[in-house]
Amino acid sequence: MIRKFVIGSPIDTEAVIREFPVEAGEVPGWERNEAEKSLSYSMAPDDIVYGLGETVRGMNKRGWIYEADAQDDPNHTEGRHSLYAAHNFLLIYGKARSFGIFFDNPGMMTFDIGYTDHDILKVTFRDFDAAIYLIEAASLKEIVHEFRGIIGRSYIPPKWAFGVGQSRWSYMDEDEVREVVRNYRGNGMPLDAVYLDIDYMDAYKDFTVNEKTFPDFSAFVQEMKEQGIHLVPIIDAGVKIEKGYRVYEEGTARGYFVRKADGQNLVAAVWPGKVHFPDVLNEEARKWFGDQYKVLLDAGIDGFWNDMNEPAVFYTEDHLKEVFEKIREYEGKNLDIRSFFEFRGLVAGISNNPEDYRRFYHDYKGEKIRHDKVHNLFGDYMTRAAGEAFERLSPDKRILMFSRSSYIGMHRYGGVWTGDNSSWWSHILLNLHQLPGLNMAGFLYSGADTGGFGSDATEDLLMRWLELSIFTPLLRNHSAMGTRRQEFYRFKDKNSFRNLLRLRYALIPYLYSEFMKAALNDGMLFEPLSFEYPSDARAAEVEDQLLVGESIMIAPVYTQNAGGRYVYLPEDMKLLRMRSPKDLDAEEMVAGDHYVPCALNEVLVFIRPGHVLPLGEDAENVEKIDDAKITRIPFRTDPDVYELYDDDGVTRL
Ligand code: GLC
Repeated sequence: MIRKFVIGSPIDTEAVIREFPVEAGEVPGWERNEAEKSLSYSMAPDDIVYGLGETVRGMNKRGWIYEADAQDDPNHTEGRHSLYAAHNFLLIYGKARSFGIFFDNPGMMTFDIGYTDHDILKVTFRDFDAAIYLIEAASLKEIVHEFRGIIGRSYIPPKWAFGVGQSRWSYMDEDEVREVVRNYRGNGMPLDAVYLDIDYMDAYKDFTVNEKTFPDFSAFVQEMKEQGIHLVPIIDAGVKIEKGYRVYEEGTARGYFVRKADGQNLVAAVWPGKVHFPDVLNEEARKWFGDQYKVLLDAGIDGFWNDMNEPAVFYTEDHLKEVFEKIREYEGKNLDIRSFFEFRGLVAGISNNPEDYRRFYHDYKGEKIRHDKVHNLFGDYMTRAAGEAFERLSPDKRILMFSRSSYIGMHRYGGVWTGDNSSWWSHILLNLHQLPGLNMAGFLYSGADTGGFGSDATEDLLMRWLELSIFTPLLRNHSAMGTRRQEFYRFKDKNSFRNLLRLRYALIPYLYSEFMKAALNDGMLFEPLSFEYPSDARAAEVEDQLLVGESIMIAPVYTQNAGGRYVYLPEDMKLLRMRSPKDLDAEEMVAGDHYVPCALNEVLVFIRPGHVLPLGEDAENVEKIDDAKITRIPFRTDPDVYELYDDDGVTRL
């Protein structure tokens, strides 16, 4: 059952696509405090709080304070309160009461989940305006299913987007891309996509291609297609200010960029230097921005990633001017503890400054709204611009799209990647923690920068990370400029990487089948154990294992120099210790805690009783997967009980 409550005059974000009557009175069980602009709920001692999608910390969010505040910050540490997204859905799981609750408010909110008081969950709003949806159902699965039913079906990518993608900031020219492909193919490593980071553009101008480094782009896209490779270019939120640049000229002439209070277009800066931001919240401007993707679609491109759409701001022209003026005041002075830190803070705080988010406005549904009030919608609506355009421009064929920033509702138009993580062991586990939360919020197509974006990857870290990523719909190896090169073929044990990548392709029939069932039935691909074993209190505490689809449980190794790990089995299971599609051992294990050895090149897959894992064979790319060659591995059941979903992988559904 879903009930809607309203506080104040909420902005309609279009996250929810179904109409509900608004109930009078308070949200049952929640106490409203007008002065604090908060709602509080008393948690029972063993209540578990899931949700919040892409953020920091564990699956059970209890014991920290989180924010709904999309941020461009590559330090994904435990001390942070938000990452790139705002997914304001919570799932409270208790013995006495379980429910889901969605706070639809596109501005700043805090979720104090037992941080100030371990027993209190307090949600505080900067603007006390929200549509609140309370969802009650018989089980956690049902609650999520009902919630997903009101936010609309999750985005479905083309099937090739389940293949391996290789990325780097940046492959600078055609030859460098060719070299990557040659190395993959030459080493017998399957590959479906190579990502083009910002340097493919001409001077970081969206929807342009550098003609020196990619002299005949369409021909190159075609050349790659012939080798079974899709090129996936990045699109950034900021449009370079440059006379004669068509996108800039058109956007200016039509008034499609965001403006300051005085009516002037906001001048911010990102990669190309000074930019304007398209007002993607304005329906007309959104359509126009979406139409820009056509140039690349026409060149044969069928996948994109949208970036810097929190939006990330290096500086705004106005703020920079203020900073330079203030800095002059410090010149020649004896800077002491106070003044030195003030001085340093001036420059350090220049990027993504909250004040800048109050300097400009959107034209949203005919109203002028200051950006900070709808801040968390920007990435969502940029991606919606693309998604809606793809429906017009490519009505039959699916297009790959994922974004860095997002809000619930964007899950209808694209997936997400989890941004600028680091080559840290803790980030393998962070990625695992994020997956079920993302799924609850509707984001099924997702994955992390495998191997880590920042810092230097080691061979063992990359291998262990891959052993998790072979289960995530998006499997992309990506890393930052200046870090150690981390393409799989650059490391010593190529054989193990090759086998694991091949194992991914053998798992695609199952992963795609389970992904599609989740998308078509408003379900989850990744579930915490408590979803299937609700009466098992021990299972509810497991934070480093996941159920992937109906048949299997995974337990990745995420610590360095470990030759195995402890695994909790809520029931008897069949362990497959897998090194490649052909090289695996099976062993039946009884319910309980076990120390399970797992060599560096091995993946642990546990098949649940009464279930079947269909396993294919390796293939050079997704297109070449032979659907006829599937082995069904059952545990205590008939191999035919598993229903394998498949389709042509491109037609829109
Ligand atoms: C941002 C993105 C990252 C990309 C870089 C350059 O940091 O998150 O993935 O490589 O920008 O475009």
